Amino acid sequence: MAGISGLQRKIKMNPIESLFRPAVLLEHEYKVTEHICQVKLNQNENPYSFPAELKSEIEADLLNAAWNRYPTVFPDHFISQLAGQLGVLPENLLIGHGSNELIYSSLWAILGHGDKILIPEPSFSLYKTVANLCEALVVPVLSNPETLKMDLAELSIEIHRHQPKLTILCSPNNPSSQRIPYDDLIALLKMSEGLVWVDEAYIEFSENQSLVNRLNEFPNLIILRTFSKAFGLAGLRLGYLVASAAVMNQLRKTKVPFTVDEMSTIIASKLLTRMDLVEKNVNLIKSEKARVFGLMKAIKGIHVFESDTNFFIFKVLKNPVKQVFASLVSEGILVRDVSSYTNLAGCLRVNIGLPEENDRFLTAIKTIVS
Ligand SMILES: Cc1ncc(COP(=O)(O)O)c(C=O)c1O
Repeated sequence: MAGISGLQRKIKMNPIESLFRPAVLLEHEYKVTEHICQVKLNQNENPYSFPAELKSEIEADLLNAAWNRYPTVFPDHFISQLAGQLGVLPENLLIGHGSNELIYSSLWAILGHGDKILIPEPSFSLYKTVANLCEALVVPVLSNPETLKMDLAELSIEIHRHQPKLTILCSPNNPSSQRIPYDDLIALLKMSEGLVWVDEAYIEFSENQSLVNRLNEFPNLIILRTFSKAFGLAGLRLGYLVASAAVMNQLRKTKVPFTVDEMSTIIASKLLTRMDLVEKNVNLIKSEKARVFGLMKAIKGIHVFESDTNFFIFKVLKNPVKQVFASLVSEGILVRDVSSYTNLAGCLRVNIGLPEENDRFLTAIKTIVS
């Protein structure tokens, strides 16, 4: 890490910038490329919104809520309901304003200057950003460039060698779309002396089971879940962590108080009573995914990787990837350019949308690359 004077020598800083920490000056702001497109398949969102019938059922509850009052520091009623559904105790849960917030607040609780954090590459970029902001030492472990999968032996060797304080295992992983097999996750948990953070943001779409019911066996396990994907509530910003009470007692200290608002918990609480709807939408997405995969495989000019989640990574074989991205935008279709990630050169990411959106994407990509 370059010190402030080293940085000053490297880049011309104005006096205001020199007041900020070097770790901050070296980071980039989180950005998602904004294009106004009719077909939006770039953020792994659920194409099915909160059902209108449920919206009208909770209208009165939203209107009757005390908008002038603070919510409780932690949303206790909602935590009890969710804990009951997950089969854990309320003390094992921490709810955040989206899981992004929990990544920030929790990594800050664990990592300090020079602490080691092991992160597979590529993975969800926020982990590395926050680790850098904490001045931690990031130990990357590369995926297999042919399959994008992580190798158990390689992960074990690196954990043994570096003894990281924290290991991040995102399964299924964004952006690679691959899972780490369940038994491999258990093996890694057993061998790790440090904390193991398993990001299950996409678990509902996966062949893997969640690790939530193994919590009692692993006091070093932290699981991250979100309402943004399978539950279709990305607009609300709700995510949560599941971990032992001993871990939670520490993570609660760095969590920003009051960030989870009353309205969001009223809405999510209602959806928790209608898990049939969540399951129905997950099944629709899964069957649409199987159809799209078959059709993408048949398109010459791209290579699509197998996926364990609600999005695909595909490599553009001949055309320049940026040109393909731009051509899709000009057809009104927004995907994610992931070509700058390790092992993803030439790749784009597309999530499963409504059947008609997927059809528009398939027709466009076929025309563009052929
Ligand atoms: C792997 C992974 N984890 C966490 C998140 C954050 O989700 P949210 O902040 O919407 O809960 C995302 C968002 O795309 C993700 O892909």
